[in-house]
Formats: sequence, C-alpha cells, structure tokens
Amino acid sequence: MFDDLVERYDLLNSVLSFGMDHWWRRRTVAAIGPAPGRILDLGCGSGALTGRLPAGSRAVGVDTSGRMLAEARRRLGPGPALVQGSAFRLPFADGSFDAAVSGFVLRNLHDLAAAFGELHRVLRGGGRIALVDITEPANRAFRRMFDAYFGTVAPAVGSLVGRRDAYRYLVHSLAQIPPGPEMAALLTRAGFAHVRPRPLTGGIVTLLTGTKPGD
Ligand SMILES: C[S@@+](CC[C@H](N)C(=O)[O-])C[C@H]1O[C@@H](n2cnc3c(N)ncnc32)[C@H](O)[C@@H]1O
Repeated sequence: MFDDLVERYDLLNSVLSFGMDHWWRRRTVAAIGPAPGRILDLGCGSGALTGRLPAGSRAVGVDTSGRMLAEARRRLGPGPALVQGSAFRLPFADGSFDAAVSGFVLRNLHDLAAAFGELHRVLRGGGRIALVDITEPANRAFRRMFDAYFGTVAPAVGSLVGRRDAYRYLVHSLAQIPPGPEMAALLTRAGFAHVRPRPLTGGIVTLLTGTKPGD
C-alpha cells in the first residue's frame, strides 16, 4: 500500500493537515530531549521524522516499504541508516537504541501490544520513546467534524492524484487506532514507565511518551 503512495505522500499529508504535521513531528522529536546516541525511527517512511532527529545523533529508520526507504535515502542522503524490517520483528539487538520515535505508524499496526514489546526490547534501560499518531478526539462534536473531514476530504484529495483507494485505506486505519489512554495502557503493559498520552490540537493527534526503566 505505502509503496504506491510514495510520490505524493508528503505533499498530501501537509495539505490534509494544513501543515500541522510538521509541528506534530517537531513536538515528537522535542519529547525525547537532546538525545545524542542511536535513535530509532519506527516506520520512517520517506524520512520526514528521521530528518528532524537531533544533530549529533545516529539515526536509524526502519520501514516495511522498500520504495518509502528509497525515497528517504534520496531525501536524506547517506547520513541515516535505513533498514527494511517490520515493527513486529525488529532486525536489531536487545538494548541497542538510546531512544525511539515514530510518526503516524501506530494506526497501521494490527497488534500494538506486540509492536510495543519489540520497541521495549530494542531500547536500552533509561531510553525514551515519543510516538505520535492521529486519534479520534474525545469531544463528541469535534469528533463528528473530524470523522466528516477524514471520511470525505481525504479520499477526495486522494482521488485527485488517482489514489482514492489508498486514501480510503488510510481513513479506515484511523477507525482502528485505540484512544490515547488505551495505547498508554498497552505501553505500560509492555514495560514502559512514566507513560503519558498527550492530546495535541484538540486531540486529533496524540503524542505518547514514556521511558524504559533501568540505568
Ligand atoms: C503514514 S506513514 C508515516 C511515515 C513517517 N513516519 C512520517 O512521519 O511521515 C506510515 C509508514 O509506516 C510503515 N509501516 C506500516 N506497517 C509497518 C510495520 N509493520 N513495520 C514497519 N513499518 C510499517 C509504512 O510503510 C509507512 O511508510
């Protein structure tokens, strides 16, 4: 699916989110603090978040889509390591990352508990995570507007670039993602501490932060 969206993916994201996706990614990177060391970008796609990781850090992007990774390489140059692999079976050693981030990937993961377990495994003790994704706002009126927007505008804009089906899939994936507090509970169950789901922009996006205990 993501292989088919590469060319227009970043532009469409910015259009659909009125440019707010840039700010949401900035908040995500800020949440891991000035963290030099090895940082994992889970589901890095075309590298929009990888490219924002703190200077001096060793960025590693992982994604299932070969075409997304090729686009990330084209955009980011030789700096970051880019690896093809799945969130459910990360091709990295235990405790090998100092921090991990993720942007707009959670809603694609059918087994969040398994993915959070993997994330916990590859992080070192004391390592921080910051994961951001679109979520349904808790407020009912706001949620109705959100559903109407994503149910009609996103597929319509997708059809302008000939990929209405792909954008319909993205809309369906939004219906699958659990509310922020539920994802926070899953992270806690996976072993993370100080887990906090922070609603951003009225809750249309949730930023989940936490730390792996130890060190
Ligand atoms: C909506 S894009 C987000 C890309 C990027 N993180 C950003 O901020 O724009 C979601 C990405 O997650 C990737 N993805 C989906 N399922 C995955 C999985 N099981 N493991 C790793 N990556 C996955 C897709 O290939 C796609 O590149």
